Amino acid sequence: MSKNILITGGAGFIGCHVVKLFVNRYPAYKIVNLDCLTYAGNLENLKDIEHAENYFFEKVNILNAEELMRVFEQYQITDVIHLAAESHVDRSISDPLAFVQTNVIGTVNLLNVCKQIWQSLEQHLFYHISTDEVYGSLGESGYFLETTPYDPQSPYSASKASSDHFVRAYTNTYGMNTVISNCSNNYGPNQFPEKLIPLCIHNIRNNKPLPIYGKGENIRDWLFVEDHAKAIDLIFHRGKSGETYNIGGFNEWKNIDIVRLICDKMDEKLGRAAGTSKQLITFVKDRAGHDMRYAIDAHKIKQELGWEPSLQFEEGISKTIDWYMEHEAWLNNVTSGSYQKYYEEHYGK
Ligand code: NAD
Ligand code: DAU
Repeated sequence: MSKNILITGGAGFIGCHVVKLFVNRYPAYKIVNLDCLTYAGNLENLKDIEHAENYFFEKVNILNAEELMRVFEQYQITDVIHLAAESHVDRSISDPLAFVQTNVIGTVNLLNVCKQIWQSLEQHLFYHISTDEVYGSLGESGYFLETTPYDPQSPYSASKASSDHFVRAYTNTYGMNTVISNCSNNYGPNQFPEKLIPLCIHNIRNNKPLPIYGKGENIRDWLFVEDHAKAIDLIFHRGKSGETYNIGGFNEWKNIDIVRLICDKMDEKLGRAAGTSKQLITFVKDRAGHDMRYAIDAHKIKQELGWEPSLQFEEGISKTIDWYMEHEAWLNNVTSGSYQKYYEEHYGK
């Protein structure tokens, strides 16, 4: 069946991989990427598909109900995959309100527009992309299950938890057809170099310090971004209405071990003597309220939808480093800020 899908946040890190996958795999679908292009939105991420016949871009803020209505009507939107968000925990600590605005109010605004526009709610899907951080922090053992109670600890995770609750409330109260997935840490091409892995790759290349918060013993569960996009595709098409799916890599790493791994791989790739990059490691003041450990139990999506990660971590990290080294212009455009001119230059607005 043909669909007209609105993907919000499609110019961001995960969004661009989801947009590319849907545009390429489903030529009969109309894919509308709606993104207001904050500092995290980069249309260069979508260069490969920007001229595809089934791809459309709309520079719109999810807080703008009027513009959302126009887009829904213009493209006869049938379904939504909602990724647009403020996504960086450190920024949420310095500016929590920006996270409330976009992640909470923006999500409710979007839900309201869907409720107003869609005549029979059960024929449409609102798919909300969320994070494992809503479950809080784990001790040395245990995993986050779909049934784990919410216990968000940072302004970012509190805003995402709130948006998840609103999505469920729209199902319970108005009968909206929704699905939510909560994923662990993503890595891979196109990630903004404020996040740990691309930051380290960029800094090693430029011989700059690698800032490790606290002792570097915090643990994250890492997943290659294209594996997340494939899980989103499966959940969109085969997930059960009203359900939640946890997505994770079964791949726990201490931050310091990841940074050491990247150092070793980059020394090799850059032809530097072994141990050179590790000298850049610098322990700095810990993140306030730094969650200790995240680990996802992803058995439900494996058993019900047959999804599991396809890429081993060391291979994925190698692929990621290669991508950044081969896309120096992408990184330079991001660090110089010139990526923000892409819209004016290519869309003539
Ligand atoms: P990102 O910061 O790279 O991209 C976010 C995108 O949303 C950007 O293109 C930005 O311009 C857009 N955006 C922000 N505010 C907007 C607004 N008000 N209106 C319209 N567009 C707006 O984020 P990401 O890492 O790709 O994360 C995408 C989603 O996945 C988020 O909802 C995030 O919470 C979730 N998530 C991320 C991870 C991860 O590891 N990165 C893991 C689990 C879940
Ligand atoms: O778990 C999913 C979440 O993963 C997503 O919901 C978020 O959107 C995404 O940003 C990510 O959050 P983290 O805070 O885990 O990612 P980040 O890359 O910022 O940090 C990873 C770990 O590395 C974390 O323990 C903090 C640490 N860190 C981070 C930076 C930027 C450092 O030690 N030094 C740094 O400079």
